[in-house]
Amino acid sequence: MISGAFLAVGTLLVIAALNGQQITFIPNGVFFPNPGGASETYSTTGGGIDQTGPFFQSLGTNDRSCATCHQPSDGMSVSAANVEQRFSLTQGQDPIFRTVDGSNCNHGIDVSTLAGRYAAYSLLRTRGLIRIAIAVPANADYRVVSVNNPYGCNESDVISMYRRPLPSTNLRFLSAVMFDGRESTPATGTTKILYSNYPTSLLNDLGHQSVDATVTHAQGNGTRPTPAEQQQIVNFEMALSTAQVIGNVTGRLDARGANGGPLPLVTQPFFISVNSSVHFLLPQFGPFSIPSPSTSRM
Ligand code: HEC
Repeated sequence: MISGAFLAVGTLLVIAALNGQQITFIPNGVFFPNPGGASETYSTTGGGIDQTGPFFQSLGTNDRSCATCHQPSDGMSVSAANVEQRFSLTQGQDPIFRTVDGSNCNHGIDVSTLAGRYAAYSLLRTRGLIRIAIAVPANADYRVVSVNNPYGCNESDVISMYRRPLPSTNLRFLSAVMFDGRESTPATGTTKILYSNYPTSLLNDLGHQSVDATVTHAQGNGTRPTPAEQQQIVNFEMALSTAQVIGNVTGRLDARGANGGPLPLVTQPFFISVNSSVHFLLPQFGPFSIPSPSTSRM
């Protein structure tokens, strides 16, 4: 019965989305079904997720918003199944399907036909991957001598990497922003997150990240999000905690004293270099973090 109830809520949300109705508010406590059971995203402000803020608005030129790739129903990321469904519903025209970084490569593709789009967006459809193209730094202490990219992005000055959107939730526990930590390094003019400057450094890095994300993913001109919008985006993101709350076999993960679900994360004490993530050095940007088990993100 319980699983029937949460499936019904999830289904209602999906159906409304399919009908093009605007759902502007998702109250805390809504279950989002996934193959393992269901997750929940809890917001400490406003009693839920208000989908009217700048995070959900098109701030660039290609109709994408942050939510195009960071969906409340998918733990603030996207699953391959979610992307595949959007491809089917829109014949590959949903704003996530843009050649700037949604297709396997941004050249040598034909997106004028359905079959062409199906092929061009195969990594996004089947793996949920976005192409992150990053130039080899001028002062790199290595040389790229050869690139063998099966999708044709073989440039050796700009390297294409394929990454699933990191969940824009549970961000309080970050010790470096982005997969390679680049939004917390001088490479982007941002600040390394330390015990002594947390959380100011994290908040500033996230504000800067929102501008870079709009410029790259949404092909913006750098004027938006404005400083006020950056603040709203960061406030929105920082209020979110996400975790699996129902397991298919186990049932509720927050029952009988268990600490599953998002609520225990809200009050979890956190200190950089006490229980923050492990740091490695990647040649390109320096600090690279892997979430520690206690703060693992979906
Ligand atoms: C086209 C898809 C796409 C859009 C649109 C998008 N993102 Fe992302 N986002 C990603 C991907 C992919 C990554 C991981 C990239 C990496 O680490 O190199 C990411 C990473 C992030 C992270 C880092 C989280 C962490 O754990 O380090 C944050 C925060 C974030 N995005 C917020 C935003 C915001 C805010 C916007 C809107 C201004 C936005 N994103 C728009 C795809 C997207």
